[in-house]
Amino acid sequence: MDKKEDHYFNEYSNSSVKFYSVSVSLRRHLYIFKTASGIFSYKKLDLGTKVLIENMFIPKSKQILLDLGCGYGAIGIVLAYESPKSKIYLADINRRALWCAKQNVQFNLPQEKGRIKILFGKDFEPFKNKGIQFDGIYMNPPVRLGRKQFLKLFEDLPHFLKKKGNFQFVLRKKMGSEYVYNYLKEAFSEQQIKIICKRSGYWVFNYIQD
Ligand SMILES: C[S@@+](CC[C@H](N)C(=O)[O-])C[C@H]1O[C@@H](n2cnc3c(N)ncnc32)[C@H](O)[C@@H]1O
Repeated sequence: MDKKEDHYFNEYSNSSVKFYSVSVSLRRHLYIFKTASGIFSYKKLDLGTKVLIENMFIPKSKQILLDLGCGYGAIGIVLAYESPKSKIYLADINRRALWCAKQNVQFNLPQEKGRIKILFGKDFEPFKNKGIQFDGIYMNPPVRLGRKQFLKLFEDLPHFLKKKGNFQFVLRKKMGSEYVYNYLKEAFSEQQIKIICKRSGYWVFNYIQD
């Protein structure tokens, strides 16, 4: 594969692998993530991911939560730590990223393997015909794939997000936050789409399922 094509959202990252370690304090807890070349933001936690993690709403009660497009697992692992009764799913299309996510769950939450599931697949495919509906879905979307593809996810949400469930996601202002906000307000209602915060050039959104 041409190196240029070997982008983080490919299913297989074919370049020779180099491993890295990312240490970061999130919500006043220190995490150490193993990462690998060829996956998203492997040298440093992405600023958008950090803004989402620091500002997302995390339930304390027992819920079912999903980190969609989990990469090496930062969002899902913070969810699992902060919501100790919840069942947490992490999913991605990049197998190398999923391998790192698995290592990171084992390292950061060694007692918690049973309630954390890591799955391979595109969008909601890993959950099709499984009867799973989430109370919360969290995402730093792969915007390079295009806004259209991101917005298409909203068509599937009624199947996978419970009524009153939250879909919290982060977008870079420059990458079209305003467009997405206006589009979603038009497509749904103003009550269903909230901006949780605007920080460091990123907007964190919460879409509430009707
Ligand atoms: C912007 S990165 C975020 C990664 C991780 N959540 C983080 O914050 O560091 C987007 C992730 O989505 C994954 N991805 C891309 N397209 C996807 C799809 N259709 N379904 C599931 N995951 C996808 C990529 O492999 C990548 O890991």
